[in-house]
Amino acid sequence: AAEVAAATAAHGGSFTRLESGSGVSDADLVLTLTEDDDADLPSPPPPTTSRAGDHANLPRGRASTERNDVVGAQRGGVGAQDDVVGEQDGGDESFRVSREDGAVVVEAACDQGLLYGFFHVARLGEAAFDGPDLVERHAPASGLRMLDHWDNVAVHAVMGQVERGYAGGSIFFADGKVRADLSRVEAYARLLASTGINRVAINNVNVHAREARLLTDDLPHVARIAAAFRPWGIRVHLSVSFAAPMTLGGLGTSDPLDPAVASWWRDAADRAWAEIPDFGGFVVKADSEGQPGPFAYGRDHADGANMLAAAVAPHGGIVHWRAFVYDHRQDWRDRSTDRARAAHDHFAPLDGRFAENVIVQVKYGPMDFQVREPVSPVIAAMPDTRVALELQVTQEYTGQQKHAVYLGRQWSEILNFDFAGPDRDDARHAPDSDATPKSDAAPGSDAAPNSADPSHALPPTSVAGIVARSGGIVAVSNAGDDEFWTGHPFAQANLYAYGRLTWDPTADPDALLDEWVALTFPDAAADVVHALHTILDESWETYERYTSPLGVGFMVRPGHHYGPDVDGYEYTPWGTYHFADRDGIGVDRTVATGTGYAGLYPEPWASLYESPATCPDELLLFFHHVPYTHVLHSGKTVIQHIYDTHFDGVERVESFVAAWDRVRGSLPDDGAADRADRVGLADRVGLADRVGLADRVAERLAEQLRSATEWRDQVNTYFYRKSGVPDERGRTIY
Ligand code: GCU
Repeated sequence: AAEVAAATAAHGGSFTRLESGSGVSDADLVLTLTEDDDADLPSPPPPTTSRAGDHANLPRGRASTERNDVVGAQRGGVGAQDDVVGEQDGGDESFRVSREDGAVVVEAACDQGLLYGFFHVARLGEAAFDGPDLVERHAPASGLRMLDHWDNVAVHAVMGQVERGYAGGSIFFADGKVRADLSRVEAYARLLASTGINRVAINNVNVHAREARLLTDDLPHVARIAAAFRPWGIRVHLSVSFAAPMTLGGLGTSDPLDPAVASWWRDAADRAWAEIPDFGGFVVKADSEGQPGPFAYGRDHADGANMLAAAVAPHGGIVHWRAFVYDHRQDWRDRSTDRARAAHDHFAPLDGRFAENVIVQVKYGPMDFQVREPVSPVIAAMPDTRVALELQVTQEYTGQQKHAVYLGRQWSEILNFDFAGPDRDDARHAPDSDATPKSDAAPGSDAAPNSADPSHALPPTSVAGIVARSGGIVAVSNAGDDEFWTGHPFAQANLYAYGRLTWDPTADPDALLDEWVALTFPDAAADVVHALHTILDESWETYERYTSPLGVGFMVRPGHHYGPDVDGYEYTPWGTYHFADRDGIGVDRTVATGTGYAGLYPEPWASLYESPATCPDELLLFFHHVPYTHVLHSGKTVIQHIYDTHFDGVERVESFVAAWDRVRGSLPDDGAADRADRVGLADRVGLADRVGLADRVAERLAEQLRSATEWRDQVNTYFYRKSGVPDERGRTIY
């Protein structure tokens, strides 16, 4: 409320916080805004150091006191309370926005709802004031909308400071400690709140020795970070090491069933909440890629997670227990072990055993954040467990923020995947579907449908429907101390779309991209906007075309995962293989002759994936080993598809480069350096040496073209040499 009041007052507007029980209206907090064409575009506090992607700009308008008399208060929210999903782990985050005679009123029961309503109006800009009178109620699909940072306090010898970070160093830590100046974190918090994020884990899931001490010695400093997030409705979580009772507590064991271990964790939790009253809880990567866990003591994941859950439960805390568990020391000769099965094999049998405050956090696919994977069957396999979906905003396997890849479409596809079957999925998108949210309702009518409330449009069997009911959505952040926040300035579109999709998983990802473009480049000429869309609209599909084909995945350089290496993982212990030989390619994951993975899905998906005749083309090689001459649904052979997509992918990147070259000279000055100068931030954030946005994008696009060309030539050459089948169009293959 304080933030909204400050932002509103700065523009001569009104904000009213009313005491509960005054009985005038049904909301506690009211913000009124009226359009004022004379007003300049205001920028709400706190000052940002962002150069672009300043998602939180206010509309061209200013608040007014005119309508203060129509508002009042009474604790109880703004709509029917029994279905307010935003309050499952915090306050009621919903808000109601109404427009009458060109004045806009936002009402909410809690601070957070008002803040989201404020950003809603800011996002709409002048459009908020146009059109007929309306009343809308908005609520998030889930109360848990989270970003995980894989930041280390110290600079790690192999991974650098931010594991899989492509945007510079950490915004939280520098010089081996929590930063003294957290102004960047304050700006980040505002940025995230404007998209709907309400939880952040600040440190890497691989918890090294230095980072483990965030839970003990550093708590007062973690509290400072929490204080920077708090005004924006964001709670802080920590990744913790399962071995902490030994490494930090000096105990001889971390056995979750040992009373001394449980007591150590209870004390640790008590100290954390004493220091940070709204602390969120723990994120745990256990028995995964060398991290310690309960297996060492013959215990299972439920034993481990529940012990931690008991420690945080008195404080209302959550344990996010990651399901990314597999054997990373397997023998490539052993064809019966399938990494894709691992999370399901480990976790599905434990369904029903996890405590109420444990959330099992499941990566979207069964492997590891590839550009294309089937949706993880684990999400549907644990109906008696709270499950969160884990996405990756940081572009580890999708071009490392050197390549322009807008991931909104991928996430939308995942969120709307329906375990009940593809027909159900299609029905959702039909124009006359019941699931289509209505956009407005009669003014003043409380009985009106909860329009624009996405929780009412999610099929219970879709990924979004399942996780919205239980564990929410989590993703690995892509932000760092880079002057553009995300390395590639266009990667901000991913941060934006991710937040918006956590609020409303039914949102159209193309419309979210439009929003981001309009908010980030508000003064851009039509040709600049056109260029942005040329580059970003189908950038996910483009990346897929020039990298690994038909869902087979990996083929990246081991270790850093950038650039092509078709056999890079083929004979390693990591369990990621394509099995290409002279006759064919792909992994047989069928029940009939393969690893049985296809059978982990409910029907009709199990049968659809089981047969190459019904398996979708884009996942064919994930589920089947087929000859190069196998004919896809598209009518092409597998080998010709590989050649065609790789040539086409590079041509598309060439068109991106050309599109940017045409407009880069006409980009408006974004004014960020001036803004930073005004608030004395220019030196601190290095804006003095800034590279202009146009140049930064051009430099990244040049690298994208180089890399895509390398991918094309290596992949095409590899499969030409393996198969001996020439390209039917006779193009150059080496
Ligand atoms: C990937 C990534 C690792 C990360 C891991 C995880 O494997 O390459 O850096 O630690 O995912 O999600 O835990």
